[in-house]
Amino acid sequence: MAEYVDSVVLRGIFDSRRNLTVEAEIRFDDGATGVASAPVAIAPGRRERARVDVTALGALDDLPVYAGVRDRLTGAPASSQKRFDEILDGIAGAGVNVQVALSMAFARARCASEGVPLSTYISGIGATRPKVPSPLVNVFSGGIHSGDPQMPFQEIMVAPAAASLPDNLRLALAVYEDIESLVRARYADCGYSSAGGLRMRGLVFGQALEHLSSVIERRFPGEDVGIGVDVAAEHLRRGGVSSARYAVGDRLLRGEELSELLAGLSARHPIRYLEDPFDPADVVSWKEFSRQLPEGQYLCGDDLFATDERRMSGELATCAVIKLTQCGTLTRGIRAARAARRMGMALCVSHRSGETEDCGVCDLAVGLAAEFIKVGGPSADRMAKYNQLVRLEIQLREGLPVA
Ligand code: PGA
Ligand code: ZN
Repeated sequence: MAEYVDSVVLRGIFDSRRNLTVEAEIRFDDGATGVASAPVAIAPGRRERARVDVTALGALDDLPVYAGVRDRLTGAPASSQKRFDEILDGIAGAGVNVQVALSMAFARARCASEGVPLSTYISGIGATRPKVPSPLVNVFSGGIHSGDPQMPFQEIMVAPAAASLPDNLRLALAVYEDIESLVRARYADCGYSSAGGLRMRGLVFGQALEHLSSVIERRFPGEDVGIGVDVAAEHLRRGGVSSARYAVGDRLLRGEELSELLAGLSARHPIRYLEDPFDPADVVSWKEFSRQLPEGQYLCGDDLFATDERRMSGELATCAVIKLTQCGTLTRGIRAARAARRMGMALCVSHRSGETEDCGVCDLAVGLAAEFIKVGGPSADRMAKYNQLVRLEIQLREGLPVA
């Protein structure tokens, strides 16, 4: 049985966008070791807590916060995630990225020491019955992720709702591949965003939704496949918070006008999941929209709640995004998820635009029994997350341990 943290190491490593991020390694006195790294956002919300700049590749001994981290955490008890995360919270200037890497490295060291899978460990703390979420697979990238003003919404996703993960992935990948060949033939400069979504010049968001709807209808008539949209409206806001206007294509829309536009799109397309349709401060629009929410649509708060238990509100949304890099520690993330649950909300656990090979986001989603997971489009590094979900589904079905 592990008693205390024997050593703490911080390293600078690459994320999937070739930027630097932090990886932590924690070793207990019984030899159990945990490694975890922090993803990096391109488009962080303004309610997120600050991160520390990682300036070196390799050992981070010169990072100003490192001495504090090493002094406070070496010798810390190995017995409690909550206690460890409280100590982390007390380290001045640690930054959410350093905290996330350390908090998840501690969780993995605990799992190694006790011989339990990470998803089981998280579900134990969160008092959930683990389950595999439905993937929201990024098809079109827009907003800050693409830079094309005609595509203002950050993500347009395919949202399959079949009974099993393999069926959901089969449906989502088939839709993605059809769209990929369609847009490659018709649009210029077609490429991939760092989150694995397609991005191109000349495609207006309304057409993107038309393409997606028609592929879904044609290929999968009668199957339960919907659409997800992350508006990421905080980044579309122009002018002051009290008189918010949203830049959508060539227009500047008031909150009511954006509401109307989104309600119209929801009437024409099977939009099952709608994230951040308004700025976090535009509470009037959030409340109004949630009162008239189309049947079967999830209204989800990401930049709105910023994974903070004190911000959760069932009056504003019916679903909450959970991102550990918004709050810093596993304990805070689980608290935010539990607060959302108490208010009757669903959960969507999300990656960030710059990821690493760390697939802990999948274990978190399963451990929190989230309804949805966002880990990007099915390209490049994002496939590792889908593979981890496949492993976790088998583990849940057969009771097998997953590292
Ligand atoms: P971000 O995007 O990592 O750039 O914030 C993630 C999202 O909300 O889709
Ligand atoms: Zn978002």
